[in-house]
Amino acid sequence: MKIILIGLMGAGKTTIGKELSMELGFRLVDMDMEIEKEANMSIVDIFEKYGEAEFRKKELNLLKKLIKEDNIIISTGGGIIKEKTNCELLKNQKHVIFLDGNVNTLLRNVSNGINERPLLKNTKDLKIKLQNLLNERYDKYKECAKIQIDINGKNIDEVVSQILVYIR
Ligand code: S3P
Repeated sequence: MKIILIGLMGAGKTTIGKELSMELGFRLVDMDMEIEKEANMSIVDIFEKYGEAEFRKKELNLLKKLIKEDNIIISTGGGIIKEKTNCELLKNQKHVIFLDGNVNTLLRNVSNGINERPLLKNTKDLKIKLQNLLNERYDKYKECAKIQIDINGKNIDEVVSQILVYIR
């Protein structure tokens, strides 16, 4: 089985992925961390030195590779749905889960990770930025996912339980 978590920055993809990985005993791959490891460079540096397009290429190549694996939880980066090919790959998978949070939930969760996120770094109004990204991407998350989980007002355990019920 393969579980793929998608959603905007601050939706809790990494944290929920860790919990799922412990519950199910599957390997967790956090795509951002894997890209950083492979490039031996932070995401911020990759964006600054090579640009977003290069990052998206790395993201696509990694997804292509990971999608062949089994018994894995894949925690994607928030922009995974920007590439059409990624969307096609995701649509062919059984357990793609969209962690759906409103802007207040996302804002609360990203607050202490702004400097590690190139798209939020140096942003004057974080709430507006997140709202714009959500507006731009919302339909794509829905389109690529098999199930959408409302994360607003829920703690991690509640979201994880919901996912476990869904996959079992
Ligand atoms: C991005 C989200 C980030 C990371 C990169 C770009 C995006 O991942 O991949 O900064 O375009 O939304 P998280 O969603 O894990 O923060």
